[in-house]
Amino acid sequence: MLVIGGAGLIGAHVAAEFASRALVTYHGAPVEGATQLDILDADRTRALIRRVAPGTVVLAAAEPWVERCEREPAATRRLNVEAARAVAEGASAARSLLVVFSSEYVFDGTKGRYVEDDPARPINEYGRQKAELEAIARTVPRHLVCRTSGVFGWEPERKNFVCRLLERLRAGREFVVPADQLITPTYAVDLARALATLVARGTTGTIHVVGPRIVRRTAFAATVCRVFGLPRELIVPRATDEMGLAAPRPRDTGLADDRLRGVLGASLADPASALADMRAREVAAPRG
Ligand SMILES: NC(=O)c1ccc[n+]([C@@H]2O[C@H](COP(=O)([O-])OP(=O)(O)OC[C@H]3O[C@@H](n4cnc5c(N)ncnc54)[C@H](OP(=O)(O)O)[C@@H]3O)[C@@H](O)[C@H]2O)c1
Repeated sequence: MLVIGGAGLIGAHVAAEFASRALVTYHGAPVEGATQLDILDADRTRALIRRVAPGTVVLAAAEPWVERCEREPAATRRLNVEAARAVAEGASAARSLLVVFSSEYVFDGTKGRYVEDDPARPINEYGRQKAELEAIARTVPRHLVCRTSGVFGWEPERKNFVCRLLERLRAGREFVVPADQLITPTYAVDLARALATLVARGTTGTIHVVGPRIVRRTAFAATVCRVFGLPRELIVPRATDEMGLAAPRPRDTGLADDRLRGVLGASLADPASALADMRAREVAAPRG
């Protein structure tokens, strides 16, 4: 197993799940025991995959910031699409399974509760890049396109929604949350565990690796407050249109987890249980 992008939210959890069975790469922030790799260097990327010849290549490196993709399409495309192409070529040549992470933003947000076979119709640059990433992954004979949404969990950079919310509210500050956006909250620990099972079972194709509930961001924020004992009053709901965002957001989104439940025999933990686990881990190992 080769995990590319092992310092990121998803990459770090996947690397932890596979532990000693994985060779891990990092880019900027060093990860102990890992190898430095800039996937913009296509030759080095292909050479590394050829040398390691892993059974599975997990591509968790990307620019996932939707606003940056909209504002800097050329630069982000080099990473999210062109660099991914080199990884896919390497995986094909090494006959590896290629795992990539995509998003509900490949959909236009007119239907809601999207299933794997719904047609992709992105309405922003991030979504277009993800749709192209999916197409590239599908050129690899053995591939797994994992679409996910609203991933949360502990991470060194603390940039995911839950970490940012906790930081603001614990400092007694307000936190603005889009009132009209749906997400399918997915706990990074569960996502990594589910991926390990999918890989072990030889699952291929496209699958939504998400938690069991599609919820409004504001409702999820309220659940975070309840589980972590924080004041809900500091959550400030705001219409997406009033937030001055560059990228249009699909409205009625959400990913159905039916295929995942079929393969795993159960759904991932619901948001409240997942957040309770996150809180328990913080109590067990306080994050100063
Ligand atoms: N988080 C979500 O809710 C979510 C939802 C749907 C899909 N996804 C997708 O899941 C994947 C992982 O997302 P994430 O949230 O884990 O992102 P993340 O935490 O930002 O991690 C991305 C990683 O990519 C690395 N990276 C950036 N440029 C690189 C380069 N040139 N060469 C090698 N590595 C590079 C970063 O390293 P440096 O910081 O050191 O540069 C970082 O560790 C992405 O494809 C994202 O679009 C995420």
